[in-house]
Amino acid sequence: MEALKAEEFLNQLTECREAFWEKLNAERKSYGAEKPLSAAIVLRRLQFGVVMERKAAEVTARWVGQIPDLDLQQPMSEYVANELKHTSILRQRIKELNGDPDALWKEPLPELKELWDFHASLSSLCELIASVQFGHEEFFPRTSKSFIERVTPIDPKTASIYRDTLLADEAGHEWIAPEILSRYATDAATQQKSLEALKKGCELFGRAIQSFNRSMPS
Ligand SMILES: [Fe+2]
Ligand SMILES: [Fe+2]
Repeated sequence: MEALKAEEFLNQLTECREAFWEKLNAERKSYGAEKPLSAAIVLRRLQFGVVMERKAAEVTARWVGQIPDLDLQQPMSEYVANELKHTSILRQRIKELNGDPDALWKEPLPELKELWDFHASLSSLCELIASVQFGHEEFFPRTSKSFIERVTPIDPKTASIYRDTLLADEAGHEWIAPEILSRYATDAATQQKSLEALKKGCELFGRAIQSFNRSMPS
């Protein structure tokens, strides 16, 4: 099998991710992901964020030392630092709201654990990047948009954390994943494995989101 050109490869990954998003977004609405928020739901959402941010940093950190080019290694190390910074900000907000910052970290939903165990098990930088940063992390600004709209009237401080810090930093690092994939996933085998990782990551993410929404306090 021949390797695809970088642009074709990225298009293939994008198509696959967008197909998952269509499905996931329809499902989210059907199990109430966009229902009105209560204080308890906001807290739970912040606790979920703690797991997502900290795990993204942890699974990525081990690969940073193996990025061959400094112009990508340095921004990826900043990415890791940013995700840990977001973890701290979310934990702080949970404390202000008198919640347990590590409730979901200590006892993750099984589907959430499965998602991050999968990422920890991947055997190359490109697979990891395809699945996390190019994959489901791209959904974060989309799901956050409706969260910010709904949380603004009841908890403007939390809304501001999402809008002005988390999403602002996210926009700053979106360029890195496609650049890593086009530079390093240049042979057919790596491209294939990266595509498989993206598919599996999106699938597990969809299940984690569903389980999270179903576990929400009413
Ligand atoms: Fe983040
Ligand atoms: Fe992020």
